[in-house]
Amino acid sequence: MRKLLSASLTLATASLAAAGVLLPLRPAAADTGDPPSTTLAAAAQRSGRYFGAGVTAHKLSDPTYTGILDREFGMVTPENEMKLDVTEPQQGRFVFTAADRIVDHAAQQGMRVRGHTLLWHAGQPSWLVNLRGTALREAMLNHVTQVMAYYRGRIHAWDVVNEAFADGPTGARRDSNFQRTGDDWIEAAFHAARAADPAAKLCYNDYNIENWAHAKTQAVYRMVRDFRARGVPIDCVGLQSHFNANHPVPADFVTTVRNFADLGVDVQLTELDVEGSGAAQAESYRRVVRACLAVSRCTGITVWGIRDSDSWRASGTPLLFDSSGARKPAYTAVLDALNSAC
Ligand code: G3I
Repeated sequence: MRKLLSASLTLATASLAAAGVLLPLRPAAADTGDPPSTTLAAAAQRSGRYFGAGVTAHKLSDPTYTGILDREFGMVTPENEMKLDVTEPQQGRFVFTAADRIVDHAAQQGMRVRGHTLLWHAGQPSWLVNLRGTALREAMLNHVTQVMAYYRGRIHAWDVVNEAFADGPTGARRDSNFQRTGDDWIEAAFHAARAADPAAKLCYNDYNIENWAHAKTQAVYRMVRDFRARGVPIDCVGLQSHFNANHPVPADFVTTVRNFADLGVDVQLTELDVEGSGAAQAESYRRVVRACLAVSRCTGITVWGIRDSDSWRASGTPLLFDSSGARKPAYTAVLDALNSAC
């Protein structure tokens, strides 16, 4: 309820501002005299941002897991339950049981939901893998339309297309069945998405696009710039932000966040995790949070799981809570950085 009230106040303030009523600017949290917020969601909300977690439906019956989720987070992303192999296992037969468990839990707790993901080269059921050409294009657009219509009004932002660019120096699109239907498949998906749920923010989401100098980052940037110039409906870019020793937080991360935002889209850090431990891990997390806070259109951060043991990279202990559910130094670094936002 507190989360809902806080969201309503933010909305009311935005409406007054839109109506030309001048409100005193909220001073930096550090200057308000307010005590620091004690949860990630509340600390992020001080600057109007959300803080979320990737969530798995079958863990919602684990009280330690759900206790941390409900206490700390204001946004959830289903880690796997909205992927195409789960939601449309046979063509035209839609299954939302697992995704609904997460969406319903979020609604009961006053949390919002990021939808992940409508179209991805991985996680495809065999019926889709076997389609080609026009039949594939139509099935792809029908999937976007049906899933978004089912959840209309309940999803804050959708990862409409996930990971459509290749790694490496070429800046090319990733080869996939969708890509083979024609270069315009991504914009066709965004048009279908806007029609299906006009209120949802429509995002392009990818990994290894955090380093501004990389060819893949540049290629995604050019696509978003082109979409904005031609009126293709795109509202945000998701930087997955999976970091480790081979892919450390780049020195120019804030440049990347700012340059995407300057195209007129929101930027969301959608799957953040940083392999490591102790002070070094905490420092990396601090740098990521500060980069987001430095750009007004960086509207929120989602970590990809709750405890280290919940992570897809569990052996790298990349999250904010250890496997017993205790807060790590990285947690404190994130909370402090959010609390000191201007
Ligand atoms: O649920 C089954 C279980 O019944 C079975 O016993 C077990 C045996 O392998 O597999 C379980 O399914 C696994 C599922 O995660 C749930 O744990 C799948 O094999 C496994 O492939 C799946 O991995 C997910 C991966 O995407 C592939 O879809 C990860 O949880 C999920 O964190 C990861 O998330 C992706 C994002 O969607 C996109 N960006 C990269 C990110 C990391 O790969």
